[in-house]
Amino acid sequence: MNSDDFWHIPVLYEEILSNLPISQTKTNIIIDCTLWLGWHAIWIIQKICEKDIFIWFDADAENLALAKSNIFKKVWSQIVDKKIKTYFIHSNFSNLKEELEKINIKVVTWIYYDLWVNSIHFDDPDKWFSFRFDSNLDMRFDKINTLTTASDIVNSYHENELIRIFREYSDEPKAKFIADEILKTRKTKPIETTKELEALIEKSSFDSKSKVRVFQALRMEVNKEMEVIEESLRQAIDLLEKDWILQVITFHSVEDRTVKQVLAEFLENKLDDKTGQILEPKKAEKVYKKPIVPTQEEIYKNKRSRSAKLRIIKKL
Ligand SMILES: C[S@@+](CC[C@H](N)C(=O)[O-])C[C@H]1O[C@@H](n2cnc3c(N)ncnc32)[C@H](O)[C@@H]1O
Repeated sequence: MNSDDFWHIPVLYEEILSNLPISQTKTNIIIDCTLWLGWHAIWIIQKICEKDIFIWFDADAENLALAKSNIFKKVWSQIVDKKIKTYFIHSNFSNLKEELEKINIKVVTWIYYDLWVNSIHFDDPDKWFSFRFDSNLDMRFDKINTLTTASDIVNSYHENELIRIFREYSDEPKAKFIADEILKTRKTKPIETTKELEALIEKSSFDSKSKVRVFQALRMEVNKEMEVIEESLRQAIDLLEKDWILQVITFHSVEDRTVKQVLAEFLENKLDDKTGQILEPKKAEKVYKKPIVPTQEEIYKNKRSRSAKLRIIKKL
């Protein structure tokens, strides 16, 4: 394979690949819950064996279509040669179990998540995630199945709810001032565009970082990001076969905190409060004590990788 074919090196890819457990004797069933353009997937295909099964999820139908074309272009011949069975699933990863049941898969050998919002979502004005462009205040990953947009939220949520999401999801110190300004503005006219929201954040907070934080909090609320990752991880641990691996890459502290908390549930025995007896044994153990972070070299090449953390656990 010519390295020129791979202009994009996905975040922590060496660390992902070196911790990818591959059985030579039985079928590996691998789930990529966050396909995007399939860059991790393309590298993983180099490693997996004949007749393995590779299942791809993405909530964003456009990303899934782009991934299909990228994968076809780069590695389709390998998929065919190795007789790898592939599935592209347009669905939220919170539907993991249900979607796998539809294709008759009950256990898997490796599941991974790469949770950062990708550069397409920021660089493409049609994705509505950034205030860099003047566009509709939408922010849905999945424009088919998610009904509430960021505009619906800023125009309908109670002030306390707005304050809560700005604080909880982004630690925004000016949450109250910004929520006040939203309420004042929407009395006269609904807030419909990224630029309208940007202007009112600038007016109510003199901290230039507030814009990024408020946009992030709204995106997380629109897509229920913390709820879906919790739901999905709980399904993932039950789907994993004993001795196999779950990997999660996070990119910001709130997301990382949530993932850490859910994984911690799997790493401890559930005890009876009174007797101290084990009610449910722990489901997993850490593969590394600390999360893996990108090397200086990777950060130098890809600045966006600097806050990535990779957590790996093994099912017991
Ligand atoms: C950082 S990208 C993944 C990059 C990918 N690993 C690669 O190397 O090309 C994250 C992807 O996850 C998708 N996504 C985010 N939340 C999702 C969810 N709840 N369910 C399914 N896909 C989701 C986004 O649409 C995006 O395409």
